[in-house]
Amino acid sequence: MSAGPTRPRIVVATRNTGKAREIARILDCYDVISLAEFPAVEFPEEGGDYFENARIKASVAARAIGCVCVADDSGLEVDALDGAPGAYSARYGGAGLDDRGRLEALLEALADFPEPRRARFFCASAVASPDGRSEVAQGVCVGRLLLQARGDDGFGYDPIFSPQGESRVMAELGRDEKDALSHRGRAFRALEASIANLVRA
Ligand code: IMP
Repeated sequence: MSAGPTRPRIVVATRNTGKAREIARILDCYDVISLAEFPAVEFPEEGGDYFENARIKASVAARAIGCVCVADDSGLEVDALDGAPGAYSARYGGAGLDDRGRLEALLEALADFPEPRRARFFCASAVASPDGRSEVAQGVCVGRLLLQARGDDGFGYDPIFSPQGESRVMAELGRDEKDALSHRGRAFRALEASIANLVRA
């Protein structure tokens, strides 16, 4: 039996293992290498908007490693909180919290708001090559937040986010189901042609 064609290698520029796993699944026509193999790569503090943050992560890694890199910057935007925590989702509730602590801080902030607690996940995806070229795309997943955490798959706010048209939360969906409707799935499928261009060049 033939092993088939070799998949081109790209690196996913994130230290978030939940994200890295999803991006590797979504871009399964590539051999997606984790940043764990490149411990020396350092990113500047995130400051700008989603697109700028995603582009910086991919570009810094591409220059440091010398191959095409992809990255994302994503966040949860809650209507009742005027779009917060948004690009600050990874730091919500203060330093020193883990995913569960951040989720509980958000539940506390939402306790007095009535249903439906509308929210959306936003994802900016980026691809960059070592010679300085880069492209971005985006994906959105709208839904609502529940006040009780459920399920045990996924990461971050997945246990309280229920996508529109679903009775389950993200953490209860199968992995393929999450990728089909998630902000990240949409953002990286929208970036596929740009990734192919930079990998071919
Ligand atoms: P950043 O892109 O590294 O700034 O982090 C994005 C943060 O948004 C994550 O740490 C999570 O808290 C949250 N987030 C982004 N995407 C998802 C998702 O698919 N599920 C749950 N939480 C997410």
